[in-house]
Amino acid sequence: MTESLTYHELRLCLEWQVELGIDEAISETPVNRYELAAQAPRPAAPAAPAPAARAESASAGTGAGPAETARAAAAAAPDLESLRAALAAYEHCELKKGAKSLVFADGRPGARVMIIGEAPGRDEDRMGRPFVGRAGQLLDRMLGAIGLSRAAPDIGSAVYITNVLPWRPPQNRDPKPDEIAMLLPFLERHVELAKPEVLVLMGNAACQCVLQARGITRLRGTWTQGFGLPVLPMFHPAYLLRNPHAKREAWADLLDLAAHLETKR
Ligand code: URA
Repeated sequence: MTESLTYHELRLCLEWQVELGIDEAISETPVNRYELAAQAPRPAAPAAPAPAARAESASAGTGAGPAETARAAAAAAPDLESLRAALAAYEHCELKKGAKSLVFADGRPGARVMIIGEAPGRDEDRMGRPFVGRAGQLLDRMLGAIGLSRAAPDIGSAVYITNVLPWRPPQNRDPKPDEIAMLLPFLERHVELAKPEVLVLMGNAACQCVLQARGITRLRGTWTQGFGLPVLPMFHPAYLLRNPHAKREAWADLLDLAAHLETKR
């Protein structure tokens, strides 16, 4: 029966069982726990490692850790196509197994503005392009309002778009800190190769990744520096869909972005 279920369906079944209180799988043969306990008292559980340490140690014993492997692969990519290929060949991130597509980027490399979102959702996973669902359509309208577009023929009006994670997290859950840390070298190299003038960070995951800071309500609208570039954090379009009253602040941030581009022209 499980052969016809997808990864996500199997995961949902498992999560449902955990919610019901099941915390152990039953095997074919019975186990006498009293005997086991008498033979081998359990050692104390070690303290949980920090997220970055987890990313490093996940593949301990197999040579380089995930973050080290990512750093070496990203640094070796001389251009965006090679970087996409390096990500496609990267085997340390579990999200890759459950995703249909590698969602790398959209728009014009070399554009003055590079937008960094969170992670692909269902539509992006299906299409293999970032921001193509409802949040993406709102993003396109927001950019259009200040004369920017991912499809602009002239580079001065173009944008380039990517995400912190290139694979869809199951059930669109938030990116985990160790996933962000593991894939950070790819994002840094992505920015280096795309050569934008400014970064626009959409939401907390992008701020966490580039600025090591969260709290988008406090961060938004204030220019800062990240990856050696001017950075403007903004509310994520998906947040604006859920909280339309925040569009007022988003509009102020868009005008600020337009003014910044105008003064640096
Ligand atoms: N939300 C994101 O952050 N990125 C996408 O690509 C789609 C939705």
